[in-house]
Amino acid sequence: MIGRLNHVAIAVKDLDRSSALYRDTLGARVSPPLPQPEHGVTVVFVELPNTKIELLEPLGDNSPIAKFLEKNSDGGMHHVCYEVEDIRAARDRLKQKGARVLGDGEPKVGAHGKPVLFLHPKDFGGTLVELEQV
Ligand code: CO
Repeated sequence: MIGRLNHVAIAVKDLDRSSALYRDTLGARVSPPLPQPEHGVTVVFVELPNTKIELLEPLGDNSPIAKFLEKNSDGGMHHVCYEVEDIRAARDRLKQKGARVLGDGEPKVGAHGKPVLFLHPKDFGGTLVELEQV
C-alpha cells in the first residue's frame, strides 16, 4: 500500500543553524526558509537524490511541533511521510487493521498542497507517520 518515502521531517529549534549544518557540513542542497503560518511551522527543504528532509521550526503560538521540542530539547525526528495512491482507501484499510488515524480522519491539505493524514505514533513503533496522496 505505501509507496515511496516522500520525506523525513526533523524538528529543530534554530532553522538557520540546521540549514547551515545540512548545507555546509553535509553538503546538501537546501531551500530558503518557507514560512507556513497555516501549519504553524517554517520549513527548509533539503533535497536528496532519493527523498527530502524537511527541517521544521515552530512558527506562531500554537505550533504543532512546540510540545515535541519541549520534550526533545535538541530537536529530533518528528515524522516520516510515505506516499499512497488513494488516501481514503489507505485510511479505511488502516482503520480496519486497528491503527488510529489522528484528528477527525478526514484528509487535510498538507504542506505540499496534497491531501495528508497522520497516524498515531503508538501504533507505529513510536513514530508519527504521515501519509500523502500523490
Ligand atoms: Co510532513
